[in-house]
Amino acid sequence: MNLFATSIFVCTTLIFAFASTAAAQVAPLIANIGGRQTANLDGEWHTIVDPYDVGSVSYHAKALADNSAFFKDHKPVNPSELVEYDFDRSPTLRVPGDWNTQRETLLFYEGSVWYKRSFDYSKPANKRLFVHFGAANYLADVYLNGEPLGQHEGGFTPFDFEITDRVRPRDNFLIVRVNNRRSKEFVPTVNTDWWNYGGITRPVNLVEVPETFIQHYFIQPGKGSTRQIAGWVQLNGPRLQEKVTVRIPEAGVSKTVEADARGRAEFSFNADLTLWSPESPKLYDVEISSETDKVADRIGFRSIQTQGTDILLNGKPIFLRGVSIHEEAPMRSGRAWSEDDARTLLGWAKELGCNFVRLAHYPHSEAMLRMADQMGVMVWGEVPVYWTIEWENPATLRNAQNQLGEMIARDHNRAALIIYSVANETPIGEARNRFLRQLIGQAHSSDPTRLVSAALQNKSSFRANHVTMTIDDPIGADLDVLGNNEYIGWYGGRPEDADAIDWVSNYGKPLIMSEFGGGAVFGRHGDANARFTEEYQQNLYVHQIAMLKRISFLRGTTPWILMDFRSPRRTLPGIQDYFNRKGLVSPQGEKKEAFFVLQGFYRELNTAH
Ligand code: GCU
Repeated sequence: MNLFATSIFVCTTLIFAFASTAAAQVAPLIANIGGRQTANLDGEWHTIVDPYDVGSVSYHAKALADNSAFFKDHKPVNPSELVEYDFDRSPTLRVPGDWNTQRETLLFYEGSVWYKRSFDYSKPANKRLFVHFGAANYLADVYLNGEPLGQHEGGFTPFDFEITDRVRPRDNFLIVRVNNRRSKEFVPTVNTDWWNYGGITRPVNLVEVPETFIQHYFIQPGKGSTRQIAGWVQLNGPRLQEKVTVRIPEAGVSKTVEADARGRAEFSFNADLTLWSPESPKLYDVEISSETDKVADRIGFRSIQTQGTDILLNGKPIFLRGVSIHEEAPMRSGRAWSEDDARTLLGWAKELGCNFVRLAHYPHSEAMLRMADQMGVMVWGEVPVYWTIEWENPATLRNAQNQLGEMIARDHNRAALIIYSVANETPIGEARNRFLRQLIGQAHSSDPTRLVSAALQNKSSFRANHVTMTIDDPIGADLDVLGNNEYIGWYGGRPEDADAIDWVSNYGKPLIMSEFGGGAVFGRHGDANARFTEEYQQNLYVHQIAMLKRISFLRGTTPWILMDFRSPRRTLPGIQDYFNRKGLVSPQGEKKEAFFVLQGFYRELNTAH
């Protein structure tokens, strides 16, 4: 390794070390920003692209804290002072939004980009103020008025910082260094089949709350119950033992309990509620109030459980007619984030006949979860424990646990969300099994009302001209629902080989075939044996569906994938052009032949059930 490489290695490690010392300052996550007093900071932010992190470290790899540090936003006080950066004369990027699709020069960019947003804010004396980010990929170091607030790691979950004692009435400057460089100890690790979109990818808001406020709450039917509503409310502030009331006016429900010394108010009550389901996605106005704060939310109530190989929604067996979705923006490409993006993607899924979607491979936006609540689409949520994570690395485990915790905290009041997935296509091994068992345990203990799964990969055995696929991954024993990815007819064999394949599992649990499919370019037609033609994909789906129908313990399918999405692994010119073409629709929503094959299957299932 030469000197140059050494100094780069030292400086990035130093940045990470510096940044990680600040990590502890992330504030407790405030739930349901939409139900609070907020000021939105979205829009055009000035940005500095900083591939060598000159805004953070000196040429001798020392962390900067003087005026040369970009977070100081220093302006020369006289013509002779040397200052080599200037946010206000730098170009802007839209927030929320990935930087890759906003500037051609940044399409492949991985590294640091600094963002600056100025704002005025007159904060009433008896109020607290937080700055909340929906997400920023991957490492976000946040500064206010020239001082560090802290760092967040993980590109797909929310975080916030308290700025009560830091904000001033005028000329505040919020600076964020976002770095999306990949590293093997991160989650996800260095290798993914999706584009590493960098930036502040979801909305940013100032959130004003009382001194003692309702920071977080969980209100759902108890495990397997539809009448008994149970949960808790967590207060944050100096006066924790306040009275807390949960009201569901439409159902005539009002329950008051006293919070304990930790500010935790636990409650349970019976209520006759119209249950949430895809057919009738009933949401109730729910008011949570304490003596000093009040938050309103829209919540649906339903129960989800397994019984043998069945999945029961509100006590009745269901089949999850699904499709996998990446958070790729329809029509314009880039990281999706808005209600419109969610409505479009879920609209196409509903056209397919779906009552379920697998949001792969990371937590999608809160807008998507709330849209699924409204549109009556059940959801499989997932953390990006994907392929070859560093199973033995305790920091990697803590990181994965943190991302899972943030996903659950954000979404556990969404009726649509029925399954937490802790991993995708991870190689079986003792260290991996231990790692995943910790995540499964965490999901079960922090939210016993939902199911836990993972996308596994089966084993196959050949006898004569017959193949048996066996789902016997040891982690299957710890899951509530088995997920399995297979690419018969694409990465292995021909589509018609599925006709001679049967499936068995050792677990007596429901199976969701969480991935299957093949690539096709919309409008490319030809022989059914010709790769990337619509006919090939169509034929593959025909044989897949025939095979799936023969699996006795199959209770759901989420083929790969609703829409073509950008991927650095797909380089075939004129066909892939850095897009994975396994979508059933093109990025413009044009439906490929296979779309109608799956739609036919789901129509059949829908009438049958
Ligand atoms: C894998 C993986 C996906 C990937 C897909 C594919 O199974 O889970 O992330 O995109 O296969 O190869 O298209």
